[in-house]
Amino acid sequence: MVKLEKVKAREVIDSRGNPTVEVQIDTSKGRVFGIAPSGASIGRHEALEIRDHKKAYLGLGVTKAVRNVPLLAQRLKGKQLDMIKADRIISKAAGKNKIKFGANATTALSIAVARADALNRGLPLYKYISYVSGRKLRMPVPFANVINGGKHASGGLEIQELMIVPVKAKSFRQATQMISETYHVLKQDIIKKIGKESANVADEGGFVPKIANTYEALSLLNGAIEDAGYQRKMKIAIDAAASNFYYIKRYVIDGEKFFGDGLIDKYQDLINMFPVISIEDPFAEDDFRNFKMFYERIGHRIQVVGDDLLVTNPERIKFAIKEKLCDTLLMKVNQIGTVTEALDAAKLAFDAGWNVMVSHRSGETEDTFISDLACGLGCGQIKLGAPCRGERTAKYNRLLRIEEELGKKVKFGWQ
Ligand code: PGA
Ligand code: ZN
Repeated sequence: MVKLEKVKAREVIDSRGNPTVEVQIDTSKGRVFGIAPSGASIGRHEALEIRDHKKAYLGLGVTKAVRNVPLLAQRLKGKQLDMIKADRIISKAAGKNKIKFGANATTALSIAVARADALNRGLPLYKYISYVSGRKLRMPVPFANVINGGKHASGGLEIQELMIVPVKAKSFRQATQMISETYHVLKQDIIKKIGKESANVADEGGFVPKIANTYEALSLLNGAIEDAGYQRKMKIAIDAAASNFYYIKRYVIDGEKFFGDGLIDKYQDLINMFPVISIEDPFAEDDFRNFKMFYERIGHRIQVVGDDLLVTNPERIKFAIKEKLCDTLLMKVNQIGTVTEALDAAKLAFDAGWNVMVSHRSGETEDTFISDLACGLGCGQIKLGAPCRGERTAKYNRLLRIEEELGKKVKFGWQ
């Protein structure tokens, strides 16, 4: 339980230089904060971010959302609260999709309240998450996005993310080293084979090679894994973010047009050729028919992750479980707007036997909440971006510190 003595909000900037909401709370035990991240490839069904649409910051200002924080805090003032109670009040006041106060306001506030509650119980944040979720601590395997396309980069690739996954690492520290080494070998390979202008990095720290198609990108990545000496230890994951290349019943990718079944064949070929273990959003967010067909045909070979499909929303997760559309939840707190509701979403997924992958957004900050969230939830998977750019390395470094605190006995990974 905690009494929130003083709640303050301000506009700060994220990793793209766009404004976002920071909340600061004073309690009798000290001061805590929370910052909302922000997406670029935002699902249509996500909770709503409120932006000013005025001249400042080219319309992206968040002063309205900042002013909403004290209005929300008013409802929490003077009470002895825990995070769950506070989040229920915040969620009810903000209405459906957090439309009245903005998910950027509610997310920053909810993260700060979680930290305040943890501090007042004398628990590190990851132990607090474990306590409220009733789950065992576990270090997550990082999914590192090292080739960027889609809405996160200005190259030609339609597929948004190609990730490396050090499944055979023994610890988070070893996983980080394997990722960093492979990332640098990939950079050298790109400079040698394509040219140094292709080695610049995009929003999540991955490279943007001038490359013709998905097959070539996967060949390049697989070659780097081999060159780094990790062919049996490192696998590949894809986030297609397919809503972004879907145009009236057809998917336009690699210069070709596909109906759903054609795209399933294409994914199947890629899985046969490369060590792919996970595909996120292979179809558009409301293309349930093709998700279902894909999961039926390929779900036994790889994990199928729902991001834009599920938007961390319990209603959409229940539907996907019933219809057998996928088997892994991508968990993003700001898609639903409070930590408690995101934990509710994760519980539904775990109860259905699914995996859960905690995820960053393409617009991030120095806030490392997701590192504690992934460890405390014990889900074994976290999507973090490349080991490059301060807002990404902050999450790796926080997890390295947590692992050191927990010592050798802590489990690693989801299997
Ligand atoms: P976003 O992308 O943060 O730009 O929405 C991340 C993702 O699609 O997983
Ligand atoms: Zn995604």
